[in-house]
Amino acid sequence: MSQELYDLVTVGGGPAGYGAALYAASAGLKVAVVEEDRVGGTCLQRGCVPAKEFLETAATYRCVQGAAEFGIETSPTRIDFGVSQSRKQQVVDRLTKGLAGLMKGRGIDIFDGHGTYKGGGAVEVSGGETLQGSSIILAAGSKPRWIRGFEPDGESILTSDEVLSLTRLPESVLIVGGGVIGCEFASMMSDLGTTVTIVEALPSILPGVDAELTGVLLRSFKKRGIKVKTGVGVSSHRRAGKLVAVELADGSEIEVEQVVVAVGRRPNSDGLLAPGSSVEVDAQGFVKVGPGYETAERSVFAIGDLINTAQLAHVGFAEGIAAVKAILGESAAPVDYTRVPWCIYTHPEIAFAGLTEEQAAEHGVDVVVKKDLLGGNSRARIIGEVDGFVKVVADAKTHQVLGVHLVGPWATELLSPGYLAVNWEATAEEIAQFIQPHPTLSEAFGETVLALTGRSLHVG
Ligand code: NAI
Repeated sequence: MSQELYDLVTVGGGPAGYGAALYAASAGLKVAVVEEDRVGGTCLQRGCVPAKEFLETAATYRCVQGAAEFGIETSPTRIDFGVSQSRKQQVVDRLTKGLAGLMKGRGIDIFDGHGTYKGGGAVEVSGGETLQGSSIILAAGSKPRWIRGFEPDGESILTSDEVLSLTRLPESVLIVGGGVIGCEFASMMSDLGTTVTIVEALPSILPGVDAELTGVLLRSFKKRGIKVKTGVGVSSHRRAGKLVAVELADGSEIEVEQVVVAVGRRPNSDGLLAPGSSVEVDAQGFVKVGPGYETAERSVFAIGDLINTAQLAHVGFAEGIAAVKAILGESAAPVDYTRVPWCIYTHPEIAFAGLTEEQAAEHGVDVVVKKDLLGGNSRARIIGEVDGFVKVVADAKTHQVLGVHLVGPWATELLSPGYLAVNWEATAEEIAQFIQPHPTLSEAFGETVLALTGRSLHVG
């Protein structure tokens, strides 16, 4: 049994762990990463990247189906999902290889195995090796949660993990949970020909998202035949020939080929901590941390999906950078979770940062709101996607931009200036000085902000 000495050992090689490792190595630290799967974590292997690749397959299919409107004749459109699955895997494999090469190039040692934190800076890698770190970052991530009675069987009851490995899409699916994963899968599967029903226990899908944005998505779902049942959960299921009959809590029954359970993710803290460690875990399994991601044990930090903050890859990166800065003895601005960027890759896309009107009212903040509908935007007309808008929420007195909310084509790519405005605490007058390229979808944000100054071009 050997003992290797490092400045930093991260347990987990997902966005939080590998991000922290890359950042630390670029600051000159000697770093080891313990990873039991391939580097890249949920985001690259079983989450964001493969899911968005399939959503792009859906976008390509929609584009080909709509080509006749541009005078381009195509023969009947047909999908070979096996080919789509191979392309997705090629994208994932290429990025995994690139990431492993980048880490190697920075001198990071990757240890293949399950890491257990034993206390006193020691991480045991399954197989016997023990690594000693002056600092430790726990970043073991999360896995899909499921409901009792709906345990995934890989055939008729699936989680996101299994959906992303399918080589054939089902004819019909019931998606349990209308959160981000549920809505993205519903959008993708419906566009590729599956009959989709979403069941969401809360009164609305995408809880926490501005209701007007959700309204645009719901209208699009309805047009495309996606059924959404809110305020009801699932009770049980039984086989009905080749189908699964799912009973809902209101007594109704839905027969589908497959069920996708998308009811959130739980932290991977099982088997992470040995008795010698004084790191604490809460009742839900999240590792407890202070404001700088420090655990109850000195020089041990926890970040990413393992702690109870927004489960987003880019939040994991930010938490990793903050933890490494603390290790380096530098001051780090804490992540402001009320202002992180949210991007939902449904069709139409949703993206936002900062306060909604509703949250502003809850906080007693007096706001002024301007909205630009994409129907009047030249680029939206050119590409033929006019369902959507930009909404900017600003302080009524100072005109400081407090929230930016977008729904429509490429909303996820268009959020960046809005995110910067919110986090830079910029005012409408400051932003309005800058030119917006025309014709672009991005000018909708600039025009909306200009309108907040009391004068405007196209926005009323
Ligand atoms: P989620 O927490 O976003 O949504 C789960 C939904 O399931 C909730 O709306 C909840 O009310 C509902 N639910 C729970 N139990 C239910 C039941 N028994 N019956 C019916 N509905 C029920 O979790 P989700 O969608 O699984 O995503 C997991 C995490 O991954 C989230 O934190 C999300 O932020 C992250 N993620 C982010 C993405 C993005 O930003 N584009 C993409 C995919 C995931």
